[in-house]
Formats: sequence, structure tokens, C-alpha cells
Amino acid sequence: MGDDKISDNEAIDAALHLDGDPDKVREFYEDWARSYNLDTSQSEYSGPAIAARLLREHQNPGDVSVLDAGCGTGLVGIELRKLGYERIDGFDLSPSMAEEAAATGAYRDVHGDIDLMRAAGTFPDAAYDAVLSIGVFTLGHVPPGGLEVLLKLVRPDGLLLVSTRVQYYEQTGFQRVADDLLANGEATLVRLVRDAPYNNDGDAHYWVFRRSGR
Ligand SMILES: C[S@@+](CC[C@H](N)C(=O)[O-])C[C@H]1O[C@@H](n2cnc3c(N)ncnc32)[C@H](O)[C@@H]1O
Repeated sequence: MGDDKISDNEAIDAALHLDGDPDKVREFYEDWARSYNLDTSQSEYSGPAIAARLLREHQNPGDVSVLDAGCGTGLVGIELRKLGYERIDGFDLSPSMAEEAAATGAYRDVHGDIDLMRAAGTFPDAAYDAVLSIGVFTLGHVPPGGLEVLLKLVRPDGLLLVSTRVQYYEQTGFQRVADDLLANGEATLVRLVRDAPYNNDGDAHYWVFRRSGR
């Protein structure tokens, strides 16, 4: 993508113009951690609430374990807690973002300095009933191949829920990666909510995949 402005919010716009280099992304969020919640609330960011409600529609909170991949300051964990989810772990590339998430008290465990693309080296295979990643499959952050990494962390018949900012969906090979997972029989698509609210500078698609049973 070019240098075109996407958001009127300076920090959000800068985030969307990162280049996906994990070192640069980490450094950027280290600086943004303290004011992230203010900026995103001013941009009417609704991704976490929408994602939590969507998960609730497909999976009862009961005793399920959830992993919030790229948990940031914990906005997704807070929304999940409101709906009755209790066993929520999170991780993020940025230690300061992860610290903010831990401080919310919404999480059982939060890990900082973890790159989603290498998360399989940290978390055991098939350990979670649900994995969510909201606001992470977005411009300048992670490549679509992260979907395959996250699916491996979901137990068979468990759910993977991700948001894709519409511009990200249009400018990357996300659809191809999703199609491959479906064609290989590794997952089924339970739900796709297209062009749903996200924030005041654009919409997102919300995807709910079910990992195939063994
Ligand atoms: C826009 S924020 C979204 C945070 C949170 N999920 C939310 O909805 O508020 C994107 C987050 O993804 C994290 N992130 C970006 N690239 C990552 C990677 N490769 N591995 C892990 N986290 C990453 C950033 O550090 C940041 O906290």
C-alpha cells in the first residue's frame, strides 16, 4: 500500500503504515501502549465487543479456554469477561501492551514479546477451545499466513475468530490462505460477517473458523 492517509487519528494512521517488521511493530506499540485505549475509543473502535459477541453466539462460555492473540491492552479480554468467559490467556509482541492487558485483570495469563508468527513455539498444539485475534490481521501488522499458525493452537472442533480490516483483506492474500485451509480440510468456515463495524475510518470482516476434528 502507499502513503495514503487512512485514519484521521495520527497514531492509528501511523500503525496502519507499519511494514510488518516485528521489531518495528514492537517498538511502535511500546510507545503507544499508554495512550492506545484513548486513541481507539476516540475512533469508536468496536472490534473487541463485536468479536466477543460473535464468539458467544457460537460457543458457550462454560469451561472453555480462550487465547487472545495480539491481545494489545486487553480490550478483547474485557469484552469476553463481560460475557462470562473466565479462562482467557493473551499474548502480544509488545511487552508494554501485554502489561496493560495483565493490569485489566481479565486474563489468567498474559505473555509479552511473543511474535504471532512464531507462537507455535510457545503455546502447545491444539490447547485452546477458541483463539481470537482482533485488530491484528490489519495493514502493516501480520501476514495472512498467521491464520495457519493460530489454527494449530485450536483444539479439534474448536473455533478461530479473526477480524480483517477491509483494506487488509483487499490488499493481501488472506482469502487465498483461508481458501487453502478450507480446501485442505483443516477447517470449516462457520460464519463470515462482511463489512461490519470496526472503527470510524473503516469496516472489517469477521471470520469464524472451526478446526476440523481428527
Ligand atoms: C491494533 S492492536 C489490537 C490489539 C487488541 N487485539 C485490540 O483489539 O485492541 C494490534 C496488536 O497486535 C500486536 N501485534 C502486531 N504484530 C504482532 C505479531 N507479529 N505478534 C504478536 N502481536 C502482534 C501489536 O503489538 C498490538 O498490540
